[in-house]
Amino acid sequence: MSERFEEYLNDAKDYAERVLMRYLPEAEGLQKTLIEAMNYSLLAGGKRLRPVLMLETWRMFGGNDERLITPFMAAMEMIHTFSLVHDDLPAMDNDMYRRGRKTTHAVYGAGMATLAGDGLLNLAFETALKATGLGHDGRVIEALKVLALKAGIYGMAGGQCADIESENAENITDDVIAFVNEHKTACMIESSLMIGAVLAGADSESVKRLERAGSCLGIAFQIRDDILNRTGTQQELGKPVGSDDEMGKTNYVFLHGLDEAQRKVVELSSEAVSIFDGLYAARNIGYAFLSELARKMEGRKK
Ligand code: IPE
Ligand code: IPE
Ligand code: MG
Ligand code: MG
Repeated sequence: MSERFEEYLNDAKDYAERVLMRYLPEAEGLQKTLIEAMNYSLLAGGKRLRPVLMLETWRMFGGNDERLITPFMAAMEMIHTFSLVHDDLPAMDNDMYRRGRKTTHAVYGAGMATLAGDGLLNLAFETALKATGLGHDGRVIEALKVLALKAGIYGMAGGQCADIESENAENITDDVIAFVNEHKTACMIESSLMIGAVLAGADSESVKRLERAGSCLGIAFQIRDDILNRTGTQQELGKPVGSDDEMGKTNYVFLHGLDEAQRKVVELSSEAVSIFDGLYAARNIGYAFLSELARKMEGRKK
């Protein structure tokens, strides 16, 4: 891994962190506990991968007015965090640790964690709407469409539905697992890549290629997540290991084993890398950060 990569990634992550701070709500009023629960989840850390992806495609297509991109970077992390808060609820994966600390429901109770998820999802759109009225409303509306669609019933929420129904179910096929991975995880990676490009004014063909790259990268990301649930440590991951098998989750690793799963991760990442390489080359950008990121994520430990 190059030194340049580490530095570039850390800078982008720090920027994403600062952006998120800017849009945090003040915990006050009779809804104080709810806002505290939302901020507790948002501030727990995490890789901030999705806003980093968004920032990079924005840069790739020459985005320059940060008032457009920053509300969407924060919004994306809010939706992602909402999905994690709900995913950990007792009625879903029933997990007690996330991002190295107790889950939101473990600290605030299931009722408040449910509301924190609702609050974060809505706050995401309240925040993204701050990008309107700045002279690029056409792009902003297009970006809002992508943000909404990829998080909803035809995106992440739809994938979570199929995930729940595949628990302890018999005859789960590769098609169902592919649907789960594409929807619950890849859709949010796709939208992150697409929105950065859309806001920077990219052509629709490039946005389509980014959608495909996001699909490959996102499915690979989920399969790696499933591998780490078997081979990783709670200390490194900040969340429980072994829980998929305990919960009877039928995922790619369950169906095909660890070696074939890792082979699939590498195959999918390679397709993403070739799309990224092509986009960087077409724009004469010398350093293909996303290609290096995709390669690094193949072997990630957290
Ligand atoms: C976890 O996402 C949920 C999955 C889609 C596998 P991340 O691994 O990006 O979680 P954080 O944001 O770093 O905590
Ligand atoms: C997470 O899937 C997907 C979403 C939260 C949308 P998992 O349940 O497999 O992820 P972890 O392992 O809890 O992070
Ligand atoms: Mg889950
Ligand atoms: Mg889970």
